[in-house]
Amino acid sequence: MRTLNKKCLTIAVDGYSSSGKSTFAREIAKKLNYKYIDSGAMYRAVTLMCIKENIISGEKINIKALDLLLSQVDIDFRFTETGNRYETFLNRKNVEDEIRTVGVSDYVSQVSKIGQVREKMVNIQRKYGKDGCVVMDGRDIGTVVFPAADLKIFMTARPEVRAERRFKELQEKGVDVDFEAVKKNIEKRDYIDTNREISPLKKAADAKALDNSNMTVHEQMEWFEELLSELNYEN
Ligand code: DC
Repeated sequence: MRTLNKKCLTIAVDGYSSSGKSTFAREIAKKLNYKYIDSGAMYRAVTLMCIKENIISGEKINIKALDLLLSQVDIDFRFTETGNRYETFLNRKNVEDEIRTVGVSDYVSQVSKIGQVREKMVNIQRKYGKDGCVVMDGRDIGTVVFPAADLKIFMTARPEVRAERRFKELQEKGVDVDFEAVKKNIEKRDYIDTNREISPLKKAADAKALDNSNMTVHEQMEWFEELLSELNYEN
């Protein structure tokens, strides 16, 4: 059996939209005292920039303008006292709330399938992960960003469960949304994310699958702890 005998692991958490990746990845990072990086937030930040700069219209994106913006963009995560966590900054402005809006969710998969966008984001992600002791969640972390990650987890949940979670999350934030629209957005993103040409969402051959449709966060953490002990890992 494989044994994890180093202290500072790189942990990749990939999976479908609203499968609870970030909650789970954040809990893992808290437990191990690691950095948590939300790679989806980076794609969301680029999408927000495209919307603000007016370079998306319908299914079309002005690639020339995008290339110029990408050459100047600055995306990073900074700890904020108010949020008591790392939040996303786009060109030195906190955009943590803005990147979670329905408007951004509607376009993010379209922007994420562009090669130049992926190349730039993967470079930033590798910089954040270079020293290990990191949990990163996304779609291609275990397959492309860190193919040699020490631990890979692939999360799924039934589509209706994911739509329900996302709907509740938006309602709690006071966003007025329709359940069917939320469900459609998730289905559309699943389709684009799994069918795109570059780095499509798929389970890495050596990833452990976790279907959390009927699991609480506590139960997911028990599953994770069991996984660590199977690998003889001690923090
Ligand atoms: O994790 P999320 O739902 O916030 O991600 C938003 C979108 O970003 C997702 O629909 C696809 C894209 N994404 C990606 O292409 N690759 C990643 N590693 C992370 C996210």
